[in-house]
Amino acid sequence: MTDVLIELKNITKIYKNHFIETKALDNISLKINRSEFIAIMGPSGSGKSTLLHILGLLDKPTSGEYLFEGKKTLQMDENTLADFRNKKIGFVFQAYNLLPRIKALKNVALPLIYAGVDKKNREEKAFEKLKEVGLKDYADHFPNQLSGGQQQRVAIARALVNNPSIILADEPTGNLASFQAEEIMKIFKNLNKEGKTIILITHEEEIAKWAKRIIKIKDGKIIN
Ligand SMILES: Nc1ncnc2c1ncn2[C@@H]1O[C@H](COP(=O)(O)OP(=O)(O)O)[C@@H](O)[C@H]1O
Ligand SMILES: [Mg+2]
Repeated sequence: MTDVLIELKNITKIYKNHFIETKALDNISLKINRSEFIAIMGPSGSGKSTLLHILGLLDKPTSGEYLFEGKKTLQMDENTLADFRNKKIGFVFQAYNLLPRIKALKNVALPLIYAGVDKKNREEKAFEKLKEVGLKDYADHFPNQLSGGQQQRVAIARALVNNPSIILADEPTGNLASFQAEEIMKIFKNLNKEGKTIILITHEEEIAKWAKRIIKIKDGKIIN
């Protein structure tokens, strides 16, 4: 297996509304190896989230090529893509995005439903991941019975439950107090130590310094 996990070639993304066109990404080329830990930094509106959405196969570029584990992703049909995303990519968002009416364990198990795993196995795997993020005693809590930091840990457990090739996180500590942010970063650091590839967006130097590589982006271009 090659060491290169992701390769973006000349990726441009233009959003077209009725009256204006916004070039959110401008000819980005980038290689990401397995087991990297990358922070993407840049001012508001520079294209960070757009880049993450494209990396996460949630959106398609206007032009360019995207290889994931050597496979051309832009030619995949919607079903293949959804399956690929479910198995290969774990997402963590600033606002946690947990379902409010189901308990932590079930939130974590959710991606396994789409992956077709039976209930017993789902709950076992979900509990395993909750343990990994230090929440074994919180499986029966609803999201609103957890602190922000705990909710984000549930979201990380959910992102991990399918054993994805990569974790993508958009400002994962943006809503957290600094001590909680540090706990989250420790979890990412440990996951990376175990070999997980991690890409996170942040605008805080304090957070970015946990990563092994920092990619700076401005006006849709990588500046270093
Ligand atoms: N769905 C969209 N439709 C139109 N323009 C968008 C959309 N999403 C983002 N943009 C624009 O693309 C640019 C980059 O946005 P974004 O990737 O969200 O930046 P960042 O995450 O760095 O703040 C901005 O000018 C933004 O307004
Ligand atoms: Mg953003």
